[in-house]
Amino acid sequence: MNDSRKAVFTDRIASDRGTARDAAARALKMRLETIAVHAGAEIDSTTGALAPPLHLSTTFEHGPAGEAIHEFLYIREKNPTQSRLEAALRDLEGGAAALVFSSGMAAAAALLQTLTPASHVVFSDDIYIDVRNLVRDFLPMWRVESTKEDLQDLQVLEAAIRPNTKLVWIETPSNPLMKVLDISAIADIAHQAGAQLVVDNTFASPILQRPLALGADVVLHSTTKYCGGHSDVQGGCLVVKNRELLDKLFHVRDILGAVASPFNSWLILRGLRSLPLPCRMERHSENAAVVAAALSVSPRVEAVYYPGLRSHRGHEVARRQMNQFGGMLSFLVRGGREEALRVASCVKLFVNATSLGGVESLIEHRASSEGKASNAPQNLLRLSVGLEHPDDLVEDLMQALG
Ligand SMILES: Cc1ncc(COP(=O)(O)O)c(C=O)c1O
Repeated sequence: MNDSRKAVFTDRIASDRGTARDAAARALKMRLETIAVHAGAEIDSTTGALAPPLHLSTTFEHGPAGEAIHEFLYIREKNPTQSRLEAALRDLEGGAAALVFSSGMAAAAALLQTLTPASHVVFSDDIYIDVRNLVRDFLPMWRVESTKEDLQDLQVLEAAIRPNTKLVWIETPSNPLMKVLDISAIADIAHQAGAQLVVDNTFASPILQRPLALGADVVLHSTTKYCGGHSDVQGGCLVVKNRELLDKLFHVRDILGAVASPFNSWLILRGLRSLPLPCRMERHSENAAVVAAALSVSPRVEAVYYPGLRSHRGHEVARRQMNQFGGMLSFLVRGGREEALRVASCVKLFVNATSLGGVESLIEHRASSEGKASNAPQNLLRLSVGLEHPDDLVEDLMQALG
């Protein structure tokens, strides 16, 4: 490379970094709606493009001795489209940094892989089935100890803590029982024991709940869900407060390779732009509230699990720590498994499908989809309430319930 080209490139990198830093500093003072639109959205310095460029290059020019003259070297380490998504997620969750992964499970596994043998983790009992399967099938091989408890009761957590407890891992609201856990209180207990708290914030999204501000140390997302928002992309992320943990996670991701692809990063970044309250999350929450209210007065329904209902055990905690109650809910059909399956087979608008957080409404018999390891009641149906008109959704469920 001749020296004049190098100088131009070096200047451009310096100014790009400056812009990103300034944007991050500004973002801290901005409201979530504004952050969602502007974080990671620096204008492309070579073309002036407002929409983020999709950089597919796997490799980047470096200096003769491998100097990273353009910041990037190799796609698995980091790439420009992915860095923009990380900036956006970092600012939305209010963390020090974010790392994005090829899936939510890859993010979960990476976090557990930072633990040394003989560490102990306390998990809340109602967590995503494949995280439970990861704990069952892999932690013993990695010599990491684990305990699974119902952490709605804080005394249970205090009793579960051991001298070697390094992490407390919770999901709130939880999948599929919609348990609400008190993030601040759990963070205090974890910290007193010298452990860190990780919150899987997938169901709430950063728009409805910001665990780091409530005391958590790490936030996990399956960005496949609300962050992507259109059921067309898979991804995961970890947002951290702590640089030491970031370095460990970066090493795990780089060496084990479960990094997000540029195209997936680009799609998720696009999804994030419309996530805030006046758009998607508000509508998901409002629709779910209407559906939950209708189900809770149906004689065919035994119970409705939605944190927005006053009758929900975690309602007061949810009011304190969430902006709205989200688009996920579960309900128990009177008449057991067969009746629940019948209802699921009679819906016309809801689609029988797994996953959540897309624009379309989904229904799922969780016990069937989770398989043998499932804790879900046999008459439980989980709903991911989409962005359709709520009256159409209620009518569909009512005709299916009969
Ligand atoms: C709460 C929660 N966490 C993590 C995951 C895993 O994410 P992914 O499917 O992107 O690996 C899921 C997937 O459904 C989930 O619902």
